[in-house]
Amino acid sequence: QEKPSCMIIIFGASGDLTNRKVIPGIHSLNCESRIGTNTQIIGVARTKMTNEEFRDSLEESVKNYSRLKPGKTTYCEPWDSFAKKITYLYGDYDDPKTYQNLVQHLLDLNQKFKTPLNYLFYCATPPQLYPIILRHLAQFKLNQNRDSFWSRIIIEKPFGSNLETAIELHKVVNSIFTHSQVFYIDHYLGKETVQSILTFRFANTIFEPIWNRNYIESVHVNVMESVDVGGRGNYYDKSGVIRDMLVNHLLQLLCLIAMEPPPRYTSDYLRREKIKLLQSIKPISCSNFAIGQYHGYRSEQKISKDSNTPTYADVDLEIDNWRWQGVRFRLSSGKKLAKKETEIVLTFKQPPFSMFSTSLESVCKNQLRIVIQPDERIELKMLSKIPGAGMKTQPMKLTYLYSQGEPLPDAYERLLLDVMLGDSSLFTSAEEQRLSWKLFDSITDHGIPIQYVSTLGTNSLSSLVSQVNYLLPRKTDDIRVLVP
Ligand code: BG6
Repeated sequence: QEKPSCMIIIFGASGDLTNRKVIPGIHSLNCESRIGTNTQIIGVARTKMTNEEFRDSLEESVKNYSRLKPGKTTYCEPWDSFAKKITYLYGDYDDPKTYQNLVQHLLDLNQKFKTPLNYLFYCATPPQLYPIILRHLAQFKLNQNRDSFWSRIIIEKPFGSNLETAIELHKVVNSIFTHSQVFYIDHYLGKETVQSILTFRFANTIFEPIWNRNYIESVHVNVMESVDVGGRGNYYDKSGVIRDMLVNHLLQLLCLIAMEPPPRYTSDYLRREKIKLLQSIKPISCSNFAIGQYHGYRSEQKISKDSNTPTYADVDLEIDNWRWQGVRFRLSSGKKLAKKETEIVLTFKQPPFSMFSTSLESVCKNQLRIVIQPDERIELKMLSKIPGAGMKTQPMKLTYLYSQGEPLPDAYERLLLDVMLGDSSLFTSAEEQRLSWKLFDSITDHGIPIQYVSTLGTNSLSSLVSQVNYLLPRKTDDIRVLVP
């Protein structure tokens, strides 16, 4: 396959996402020669900076976050030579002059480096700027595919903050770009281990026959984070964990675990199956979720002092279809927890009886754990005989380690390359987003009834959240300390 060459134009170029993910991702792709050598990276932002200052600001990020370190990895070109591909344009997003300068700049780069006039726009700005940027791109005809050249856009989450605002966003996007030009990024889909769920399920014969209500008792998608909100208080306090994580990353993981096999590995077929699955999820009932907020959250930067925004959520879902009727699907995620780990745990039903002396209660249930990060692996827990006399059993694990020492490619690396190749299989569709919002709007937009405020350590969740400002447990009986 020919290596794609294009102009990558990043709006929001001085921001955290550009520094930590986008530029290190492009850098690694370049090191591995997966993209054309004349690919150009153009940063656009409101901070006044020269090319040199911009490049200097990125050097540290690449050293820290790129999988392949400049200079250290033998096949990686030195920083200075990569940096030459990067230029910076300062400008306001709502000023047509910014885009006029951009058009000229792109033509200059095309003249100088013979980079084809393929445009990959990356919206890494706050979401309220998306419509402004998109309308200006249209004004300067940068949104159009021309002759053999393409124009594509990557849009970062949040895709709205509820169903209504998501529909508004989709309307703007669809009025400017065609369906095949738009790439809504959910970086969890770019994670190696997330993609491996598909091969695990659909490239083997042994799991699919038992992947249903007859054998599986429950599925738990658990995304634990040890980090706090960091400098993102402005965004996070309005969003909270449900909008930030559950509506997108966790639901996408659930889709891959629970959807029916698509007939082919193509974006249309994958999306169709994910949509069918999302349509089968029953509305969430108020007794089926718990939320919490970590202690200290209200003193974080840019967080309101009396904020009730949840930083932890634990939600039960039911899927109304033949395969999954009666199986408990649990999604949970939180910040500032004891450790960082993302896992999907499938618990199988108990054997019908025990022929060994062990009582049935003590027979552990088989569990399949797909650990997405860190220490990516798949574990199968089962009972085995303790060596020696008698027939005593003990739990053991069969483990497959996904990475063999080399760091796995970052999600952004994979996804950026896919956009350059025009493959949207690992991107979410507008319809998936609408269905996801529809599901969660009932517990976000209508406000969570914070009738109970529980203080410390009285709930089972307290083993995960060491100190909490509040927990709203599933059942009121769980509350031992009530503060009106
Ligand atoms: C982002 C959320 O989408 O995902 C962050 O906005 C969260 O709040 C992050 O920390 C988690 O991603 P990862 O790849 O570190 O699990």
